[in-house]
Amino acid sequence: MRVCVIGLGYVGAVAAAAIAESGHQVTGIDVDAEKVRAYRSGSLPIFEPGLQELLQKNIASGRLALLHIDEVEGELGNVVLIATGTPTTESGAADLSQVRSAIEWTIAKQQEPCVIVVKSTIPPGTGVRLWETLLRGTSFEYVSNPEFLREGQAVNDWFHPDRVVIGGRNQGSFEIVKSLYEDIETPFVLTDITSAEMIKYAANAFLATKISFINEIAALSDRLGATIDDIRDGISLDPRIGNGFLHAGVGYGGSCFPKDVRALDYLALTTGHNFELLRSVITVNNRQRMLPFHALKQRFGMLDGLPVGVLGLAFKPNTDDVRDAPSLDLLHLLSEHGAHVKAYDPKARPHALPSSVELMDSLEECVRGTQALVLMTEWSDIINADWESLARMVRSPRFFFDGRNALDKKRMVSLGFEYTGVGRNGRNLD
Ligand SMILES: NC(=O)c1ccc[n+]([C@@H]2O[C@H](COP(=O)([O-])OP(=O)(O)OC[C@H]3O[C@@H](n4cnc5c(N)ncnc54)[C@H](O)[C@@H]3O)[C@@H](O)[C@H]2O)c1
Repeated sequence: MRVCVIGLGYVGAVAAAAIAESGHQVTGIDVDAEKVRAYRSGSLPIFEPGLQELLQKNIASGRLALLHIDEVEGELGNVVLIATGTPTTESGAADLSQVRSAIEWTIAKQQEPCVIVVKSTIPPGTGVRLWETLLRGTSFEYVSNPEFLREGQAVNDWFHPDRVVIGGRNQGSFEIVKSLYEDIETPFVLTDITSAEMIKYAANAFLATKISFINEIAALSDRLGATIDDIRDGISLDPRIGNGFLHAGVGYGGSCFPKDVRALDYLALTTGHNFELLRSVITVNNRQRMLPFHALKQRFGMLDGLPVGVLGLAFKPNTDDVRDAPSLDLLHLLSEHGAHVKAYDPKARPHALPSSVELMDSLEECVRGTQALVLMTEWSDIINADWESLARMVRSPRFFFDGRNALDKKRMVSLGFEYTGVGRNGRNLD
């Protein structure tokens, strides 16, 4: 098939390369000329393990072309897959302008019938409205095919998904979209458009709920002297609970959970439903993000002039994505309170850091001369670093806030750190 992928971000770039790898002829399009140039030159604008090799292989084979939108000529193909962004607006609603403009551009460009497949995460009910307002009466079909890949393992997730969800209006469009995944063995969930959209939001809302739930248990454990690591082990052995997304810490961030949870909350309100559980999930998460700041205040009182090292900026390891990362909140707070902040991340290079924050090129440079360290992203490079020698670079009182419960408490204490984790005040760890 001939497939056009609109939007070459974390989702679209992986989708374009992977669909080409499956043997289809793919054109990937973006409005950002700089981004397209970077992809073509082989110096990727995003960090995603395995993506560079997959893109280069398929560009070289002639199955994949990456174009700026103004370079596109002729028909787009049998399938137009939309993977543009859906950021949050001020109110919490999803901003649908990129998706809408990609559909309008497709309608203007394409003469032959095709299936428009929306991969972007859009609130339940949007697809039906888009179909009714833009596509009804045209030769274009509309399908919702929400994406579940995780940054940092997106290529692997594409080829080994837990499921593929397709929401459509008829069997013909199901079959066309299924053929994008014909070499992939996985359950297919075929449903209506709105249910497909809801599956994506329900999945993200549920995972966010698990995170806020374990963070509430961690807060209580800290007050009672219990240990969250053991509690997690104890509850997750129950297969009804499972062990995923039960890590206490400084809360969820990234380009999906915060915006999707807020958008679902907003959507619920517009329907007259007060989604109380989701409200609490958001409130708990906002509180978690403040934990390292409060811990530093409690230990040091005034933060003015305090040398602090922030370890990890990306919202999770193995990505350079800092969208809505908890680290950014912390950096702003620390710099507003006059701390001398150095930060380090193996991959993330955020543009909008407070001007007083020094972005360091190595972990050692970041740690040297500080009195307090805060781990915000559990990169293996940081966790497995030589902490014996790093500890010697930190000035007394060597305060360590482990925002991801990723380092061994006993070991850090033996290296002279005053160690604080999240829900790790249990007596058996002292
Ligand atoms: N990032 C993830 O891990 C992930 C996972 C699952 C689902 N999603 C969803 O997938 C969608 C895309 O996410 P992302 O992280 O790849 O976004 P992104 O912001 O990284 O990429 C979007 C791309 O679309 C381009 N674009 C915007 N308008 C365009 C237009 N009219 N024509 C052509 N290109 C256009 C932008 O320049 C950008 O490169 C979002 O709805 C997101 O919620 C993301």
